[in-house]
Amino acid sequence: MNKKYKLAIVGATGVVGRTILKVLEEENLAISEYKFFASKKSAGSTINFLNEEYVVNELNTSSFDEGFDFAIFSAGGETALKYAPIAASKGCRVIDNSSAFRMDFNVPLVVPEVNANAISASDKIIANPNCSTIQAVVPLKALDDKFCIKRVVYTTYQAVSGAGRNGILDLENGRKGISTLKKFPHPIYDNCLPHIDVFLDNGYTKEEEKMINETRKILNKPSLAVTATCVRVPVTNSHSEAINVEFEKSFDIEYVKEILSSTKGIILQDDPLNNIYPLATNASGHNEIFVGRIRRDYSVKNGINLWVVADNIRKGAATNAVQILKHLL
Ligand code: A2P
Repeated sequence: MNKKYKLAIVGATGVVGRTILKVLEEENLAISEYKFFASKKSAGSTINFLNEEYVVNELNTSSFDEGFDFAIFSAGGETALKYAPIAASKGCRVIDNSSAFRMDFNVPLVVPEVNANAISASDKIIANPNCSTIQAVVPLKALDDKFCIKRVVYTTYQAVSGAGRNGILDLENGRKGISTLKKFPHPIYDNCLPHIDVFLDNGYTKEEEKMINETRKILNKPSLAVTATCVRVPVTNSHSEAINVEFEKSFDIEYVKEILSSTKGIILQDDPLNNIYPLATNASGHNEIFVGRIRRDYSVKNGINLWVVADNIRKGAATNAVQILKHLL
């Protein structure tokens, strides 16, 4: 392969950033040069990547002057809002993991299995969706194509890794009996917190609003009826979701299973008699989305229930970003 592109990773020291590096190591992409950025705090520290030591650089307004073809940002919304437009103005195509640009009309919001075609050659910033949305829309798109989705009800059981290093620390400390909290407003150990991101005036959390709006944008169904309850649970990694779906058209449940099992990126795990269904511990470390507990919702005409689990740091963030990069390459 003729390796020739230059890639910047912004937020390389974070939970998602480090997993992006792992996923990149597993791929053989046409990248000849890598450079890693983080905040001042980590500047000068080193990262081992592809058997080489790389020094972490402090991100600043001239970081992109040297010319990058691509950048993957995973350093939060504020950093993205400030630096992604600078990178883009210097000809770099940016894949951003934060929510900063997701709902911008001019920015494609992409899960490659679902809507890679939303990216056009002139797009400089491409948004990576919210982790809980990514794992939901892959099965939803496959089913929407066949049965036309009318309404979606999400209930999520989200891992602490989605809240970054401090989220993981709060759970680990709680397990050790340490009560100091770095991330959450209440102990996450032994608890379920119906509170992810900030509360909005309408009583929903921003995470719930993200799931609703991003689902509509990615599926290209702006008026789809969607509601969500997002819950942080004391699980280290991988988000689980109960998804209730109502279709316009009637369906056969065995055909639904067939569709899902033949959808790229999905692994069907649906054998309840043998206790086989998706589990967070099994999904962790994998790039696929696991779907099971597929059953008819008898309370409506064409309804179905699904249990969907994925590694929120891999498919929910790092893997999806690298898949977008592969598409751009
Ligand atoms: P740092 O490690 O120097 O703080 P996480 O969500 O796991 O906490 O990771 C956040 C990532 O974003 C880290 O790599 C962090 O770097 C990086 N980051 C945070 N603020 C900035 C900033 N102002 N400029 C560049 N990188 C930042």
